[in-house]
Amino acid sequence: MANSRLYHFWGGLTEALRTGRPQNEIRHGHEPLFETLYADPARLKEFLRAMTGVSHGANMEIARRFPWRQYSTYVDIGTAQGDLVLQIAEANPHLKGTGFDLPVVEPIFEEYVSKSPAVDRITFQKGDFFMGELPKADVILMGHILHDWGLDDKRMLIGKAYEALPPGGALIVYEALIDDKREKNAFELLMSLNMLIETDGGFDFTRADCQEWMREAGFRETRVERLIGPDSMVVAIK
Ligand SMILES: C[S@@+](CC[C@H](N)C(=O)[O-])C[C@H]1O[C@@H](n2cnc3c(N)ncnc32)[C@H](O)[C@@H]1O
Repeated sequence: MANSRLYHFWGGLTEALRTGRPQNEIRHGHEPLFETLYADPARLKEFLRAMTGVSHGANMEIARRFPWRQYSTYVDIGTAQGDLVLQIAEANPHLKGTGFDLPVVEPIFEEYVSKSPAVDRITFQKGDFFMGELPKADVILMGHILHDWGLDDKRMLIGKAYEALPPGGALIVYEALIDDKREKNAFELLMSLNMLIETDGGFDFTRADCQEWMREAGFRETRVERLIGPDSMVVAIK
């Protein structure tokens, strides 16, 4: 994906900085990113597979490191191929997991998880996180979701996660989180520029930003853990 899409679009960086406008497939149109990107089946699959490539290491860390014993169900919001759902299910035989994403993603998710020994404990739920409530579960995960959207949508998604969780439930947000002074994490800052090139209002954010939005939504406890590579997770307890 870096080769066939992003390299070329980064040629528009100056234009993006001058105008604040995306420089990818949606540069000249008015259709939203995912509708445009997913209109071509080959590009849809390339994007979802690339998400697995980007997230696989962090997914394995979350599957092993989070205290899953206290919980029974989880849902991964914007699950793509479902690698996180699969890694958690394989490492924790007592858990049942759901991948939530747009309907067009379902066949690609089903194909990917069908090879897992944990397939019987994994389901796909189609939906649109801008419409209605999020599925209920003990733990809600969002990987590289919030950085796709502007501040109001970020807050809205965190608020919907709060509503869908039981008391004591956990929200895990994981992304390439930026250090609070925004001066050390070069990759993470470049990822935020990548979101300028790829989306209408998306941007990456600091650990402190994310925890502040979670507290505002009502979460009583938050903590940050470094995962692998540039990714960290913020855990919020309702
Ligand atoms: C940047 S990808 C992240 C994928 C995966 N969570 C990861 O970290 O590798 C964003 C995901 O959000 C999904 N998505 C975008 N808009 C959505 C919507 N309105 N409702 C549900 N899922 C959506 C996309 O299909 C995609 O799988």
